Amino acid sequence: MSLTATIPQGLDRKEAEIYAQLDLGRIPRHVALIMDGNGRWAKKRHLPRVAGHRAGVAAVRSTVETAARIGVPALTLYAFSAENWKRRPRTETGFLMELLRRYLKQELPRLKENNIRLEYIGRKQELPQEVQERMGWARDATAENTGMVLTLALNYGARTELVDAFNDIVRAAAGNGGIAHLKIDEELVGRHLYTRNLPDPDLVIRTSGEMRLSNFLLWQLAYAEIYVTETLWPDFRGRHLLEAISEYQKRERRYGGLLEPEANNN
Ligand code: FPP
Repeated sequence: MSLTATIPQGLDRKEAEIYAQLDLGRIPRHVALIMDGNGRWAKKRHLPRVAGHRAGVAAVRSTVETAARIGVPALTLYAFSAENWKRRPRTETGFLMELLRRYLKQELPRLKENNIRLEYIGRKQELPQEVQERMGWARDATAENTGMVLTLALNYGARTELVDAFNDIVRAAAGNGGIAHLKIDEELVGRHLYTRNLPDPDLVIRTSGEMRLSNFLLWQLAYAEIYVTETLWPDFRGRHLLEAISEYQKRERRYGGLLEPEANNN
């Protein structure tokens, strides 16, 4: 069998080159991505900020499809934080909502072709009604897909998620014999998070050089490898994802323990 026969279909030449160097036994099970730098991308071009968001859609498409093609089981994109919702001008949030609605409609055939299942995390109920409807429609239309789970974080905040989880735990306990016997452990908290059906991310990527988590998946990222690139989100493509995975594979993951040789020295 030739080497190229093992390269997944649809990768471009550069992607195939990086893919060929990867350890296929260590593809992250879940990649989380903080998409940042749309505004700066637009500013550099003397364009309005929203032009950066519009250009960001091509980056989403390329990244999502490459992730699906190489067999990443789960990808979560931080599309819209709860803080974005409160702190940006209404014209910009309105534009982002419309962009999302259009994205869901336009991309649906490609999501299906790539066997991708859509999910969402965040306080969806606070989003405009027509956006919620489109989100439900797109999720239902991909519900039978068995490949990558693409989760869009929309009106998402990690602290809000924890607050919702704790309230949920107490509510469930109250309806099930009262809280006197409630025992809270990590497993129980995990089961009440929005991400209850996903493994914790192995890798978190942030674009545009910022060294912050910005209230993204704070519980779930406890042991994730962090990869920050200077690339602005609209310039990010599948090959950048593969570069991040390649870098991830060079890291030693210790989960608070020691590396093998150190452990054996004691
Ligand atoms: C951060 O850039 C980006 C966002 C707040 C929105 C992300 C949205 C997209 C990439 C558009 C499409 C997404 C989907 C899922 C359809 P920023 O505005 O904070 O950039 P700045 O830090 O340079 O100002």
